[in-house]
Amino acid sequence: MSIAIMCSGGDAPGMNPAVKKFVDYAYEKGLQPYLIYDGLEGLIDGRIKKASYKDVAGIMHLGGTIIRTSRSKRFYEYAYREQAYQNLKKEGIDSLIVLGGDGSFRALDIFHKEFDIRFVGIPTTIDNDIYGTQYCLGVDTALNVIRDALDKIKDTASAFSRAFVVETMGRECGYLAAVSALTSGAEICLIPEMEFDKKSAEKRLQKEIVAGRRYLLAVVAEGVEKTEATKEWIEKSFGLETRVSVLGHIQRGGNPTVYDRLMAFEFILKSVDYLQDNAKTNKVIVYNAGRFDFLDIETVVQNRYTISPHILSGLKHLD
Ligand code: F6P
Repeated sequence: MSIAIMCSGGDAPGMNPAVKKFVDYAYEKGLQPYLIYDGLEGLIDGRIKKASYKDVAGIMHLGGTIIRTSRSKRFYEYAYREQAYQNLKKEGIDSLIVLGGDGSFRALDIFHKEFDIRFVGIPTTIDNDIYGTQYCLGVDTALNVIRDALDKIKDTASAFSRAFVVETMGRECGYLAAVSALTSGAEICLIPEMEFDKKSAEKRLQKEIVAGRRYLLAVVAEGVEKTEATKEWIEKSFGLETRVSVLGHIQRGGNPTVYDRLMAFEFILKSVDYLQDNAKTNKVIVYNAGRFDFLDIETVVQNRYTISPHILSGLKHLD
């Protein structure tokens, strides 16, 4: 078995520890590991290299990914997918590990159906929005970056008696905003998965302001597209000077947390073993309640991730 690893879509902290473990473990098992650079774009252009220990030395603590990543429009076209397949064949690669999100898995589902390529997808995205798994690689680091930002913003908000509206990433998914609002003690949280009851929030917070509250923290998921509107509403309803802070791409960077590193190792060990032990595979590895499993990629891409009711019910008091 010749096995390659690549990243695809948005980068996430934890990709580098995964790439390092992949190379080390493949050699330990007597396999030849390959690195595919620049995601699906690099696969199309044949940017594939036999991996050595040297390629992955000293990368464990780095955010981003040393093999880089991309979002590929060309991969939507059959001719480029065939070119990608020929590149793998030329190198004798029959197995692929892909660190990516559901967009990347959708592309791989098609690729697998057209060509004889075995693969395991590792759910990797700060958005934590992949069906079938409660955890995606990188989300713990992103949550800690947001926590750090919110703690700091709270310092200045309280010092200045101001309100802050902080916008988090997550595409259409409100996971980052929901967990961050809960763990930072925000007063307001808006996510696409939940109706926000303005009237009841006004009642609750006006009472608190009368009782002495001097600042407010609102966490708004980018997916609701209401960051500016929330600022205006807060100013009008509570008379507090309000600032907006869009956290943006800092949420994707930073050195991976211990948890993301350990999970990267586990995902890799189990994925390499799975590829070695199963003749045909088109799976995504998932993690739920302490258990790793493998789901058909079709199941993963045809279903939609939902935030656990437990997290959503934690937000009820912010209504
Ligand atoms: O999927 C990861 C993510 O960071 C989303 O949270 C965000 O909406 C998007 O990627 C940003 O994409 P780009 O890096 O292309 O601006």
